[in-house]
Amino acid sequence: MIIVVNFGSQFTHLISRRLHELGVAADICLPEQLTNQDIERAQAFILSGGPEGVSDENIAFDEQIFTCGKPILGLCYGHQLIAHRFGGKVASSHKREYGAARLTVLDADDLFAGLDDQQTVWMSHGDSVSDVPEAFRVLATSDGHPAAIAHNEQPIFGMQFHPEVHHTAHGTQMLKNFVSHCGIATAPVQARDPEQVINDIKTTVGDACVIMGVSGGVDSLVASYALHKAIGTRLFCVYIDTGLMRHNEQAYVQQMYDDLGFVHFQAVDASELFLSRLAGVADPERKRTIIGHTFIEVFEETVARMKDAHGEITFLGQGTIYPDTIESAESSKTAHKIKSHHNVTLPERMQLKLVEPLRMLYKDEVRQLGRAMHIPDDYLDRHPFPGPGLAVRILGAIDARKVEIVRKADHIFISALKEWGHYSDAWQAFVALIPVKTVGVMGDARTYEYMLSLRAVSSVDAMTADWVPLPANFLHYVSNTIINEVDGVNRVVYDITQKPPGTIEYE
Ligand code: XMP
Repeated sequence: MIIVVNFGSQFTHLISRRLHELGVAADICLPEQLTNQDIERAQAFILSGGPEGVSDENIAFDEQIFTCGKPILGLCYGHQLIAHRFGGKVASSHKREYGAARLTVLDADDLFAGLDDQQTVWMSHGDSVSDVPEAFRVLATSDGHPAAIAHNEQPIFGMQFHPEVHHTAHGTQMLKNFVSHCGIATAPVQARDPEQVINDIKTTVGDACVIMGVSGGVDSLVASYALHKAIGTRLFCVYIDTGLMRHNEQAYVQQMYDDLGFVHFQAVDASELFLSRLAGVADPERKRTIIGHTFIEVFEETVARMKDAHGEITFLGQGTIYPDTIESAESSKTAHKIKSHHNVTLPERMQLKLVEPLRMLYKDEVRQLGRAMHIPDDYLDRHPFPGPGLAVRILGAIDARKVEIVRKADHIFISALKEWGHYSDAWQAFVALIPVKTVGVMGDARTYEYMLSLRAVSSVDAMTADWVPLPANFLHYVSNTIINEVDGVNRVVYDITQKPPGTIEYE
């Protein structure tokens, strides 16, 4: 068993996920909670990344793990912590490094065994190790600087980059090499068994009824389908039109749930309520909170109506997945809050128990589970759509006109991706509205209109993402079509930001 010490990295859970994929047991532990028993029972330790610098004194950490003789691998912050602890120097780099980097392997034993000497790795850091401690050797460099180190006598390693993210091409092999070095056996794991998921739901829910908000997105679809398989007519699905949904979404979702044989599906149009509450609100977290609370409120009213019609409803079904819980920084005191995904900020007053069949899954595992339950590919291969909808794609305050602009432009972009055969090249694609006006010329007249940004990213689990190099003639077509057909827009740009440092959505 390996203990992953969580210093607050957004990627900590990915480390344990990769270990899990290798068939290695892992426990995540906060540094301040690490006990002597933990140190005794662990076979090895991985020290995660984190948002702080090693000079920060707010991290209580039991130094005993450095003297217990067990293997240690430090990643990013963890790597810097090791260098600092053994007398090296960590400097705030003038040059911050985020996204893809080239790694040159100097020593192909241990961590890099079986790998080429040139590797693509994913970096996300400001500080870096400037002086390697005397007892250590450099295993790999990036841009001439030490990027991986190893102690000359003890099994202690550090990597400046993140082997746990998918965009580090051979990251799993690097972790596997560390695991082998620790003398821990690896074994492939089985895919998630739908029967197990369905039985778990039956155990949690018993004879009770479940109400679930469904958005048309993959997560709520797979979660509701598993619930449907488990409890059939005791499931009540509600689609709430927040006024922030994609083009023609309600009709599409209604059709999808009919096709899949759901018995109770109801659409509620609450768009006016949402848009009126959001009027003039520019702060992204406030927007998310308002949407989350309004959603719950509309839900409660719907539950009350449903109870009158169908009797007691005890559970709320949710399509929350693992990254939703990580990015809301539930996992650690030191983790920085990036975004509070509204599905995990349920107010206490909600008088329903939660059933969240996908809470332990990543997006790709959700799709695998959906396929194993025979949900048609067309439904499963839809790009993800965030709970707060178009609100996180319209920067600043929202109004009906901006929503209409984004919705129409997004429909043009997505339809074109499908028609040109590029839809599946992107893991997620959408249009965002940048609320600055720029000058243009249409006909002979001067225009002063909004700017839209097209974003299409490749990803596996939304934790890291890269932009898709869509062909120039395609972008040309989309840009022209949007500007010709969507009033209020005179400029279209293509976003070429990786995650990190960017996030996928704009807010
Ligand atoms: P970011 O923008 O954090 O997004 O890189 C990662 C993935 O999560 C989706 N997303 C959300 N989903 N509620 C959700 O249900 C939210 O508040 C939210 N914010 C982002 C986003 O679409 C992407 O797939």
